[in-house]
Amino acid sequence: MIRKITLSALAALGIAAGGGAFAAGGAGHVEDYDFSFEGPFGTYDQMQLQRGLQVYTEICSACHGLQYVPFRTLGDSGGPDLPDDQVRAYAEFYEVFDPEIDDFRAARPTDHFPQSGLENAPDLSLMAKKRAGFHGPYGLGINQLFRGMGGAEYITSLLVGYTGSEKEEAGTVLYGNETFAGGYISMGPPLWGDDVEYEDGTEATIEQQSKDVAAFLMWTAEPKQNARKEAGFIAVLFLTLLSVLLYLTNKRIWAPLKKKGITPGE
Ligand code: HEC
Repeated sequence: MIRKITLSALAALGIAAGGGAFAAGGAGHVEDYDFSFEGPFGTYDQMQLQRGLQVYTEICSACHGLQYVPFRTLGDSGGPDLPDDQVRAYAEFYEVFDPEIDDFRAARPTDHFPQSGLENAPDLSLMAKKRAGFHGPYGLGINQLFRGMGGAEYITSLLVGYTGSEKEEAGTVLYGNETFAGGYISMGPPLWGDDVEYEDGTEATIEQQSKDVAAFLMWTAEPKQNARKEAGFIAVLFLTLLSVLLYLTNKRIWAPLKKKGITPGE
């Protein structure tokens, strides 16, 4: 009986594995970069998020929007953690349409980043979760606990993954990319090295800028990750303590009977 159940469970897993492999088919190469926010205790690196914001602002925002991200969250602790006056000054760079005055005005911290300026450039707010690169063996999600979801790795790999080849299809130029599904993407290589000048002195190589902007986009997709991990850690600590207390209580309750040599159930 047990053998039968085990066998059918294995068969079911096999089917799931097949399905997982099929779903992953077509996607290109994703390099496993290290990020500070991976692992059960990982947190965002505030300086990296600020550098990523800079890359997004100076390069990517020309085409891509972040419409689900309010400017005020740039001041959140656990995020880029900008001081209030900087958040306000940053928001004022952008113009938003205000239906109340029926005109454009400088954005305020309560407004959101704009939508994509280029029609076929996708919004990047949630991209790091949409393109989660790692699903673990058979899509079980086990890897995610230790390696993260892979969204930031996918974005980094995509940005450094240009092969240099180009082709034209139906009037659009496509650029060879070893990470993008299908091998060709319509986004030209956005980074060439030294595209921004970092204030903290970090060297702005293609890979560094890619990792920084990918970390920033992981934060836009999952801004509460630090708080979530903290709560999880406290919960585990609490449950461990509770288990120990229950174990000791249990021993104490049965101790008089044990002394008499009576075992429970007799
Ligand atoms: C000149 C405009 C332009 C700039 C600048 C630009 N992109 Fe793109 N991006 C596009 C377009 C267009 C697409 C859609 C490509 C496609 O689907 O073939 C795209 C797609 C993407 C995708 C989605 C890939 C996927 O798997 O579907 C990501 C992620 C991305 N860009 C990130 C970035 C980042 C990060 C930057 C800044 C470093 C950036 N882009 C700069 C135009 C741009």
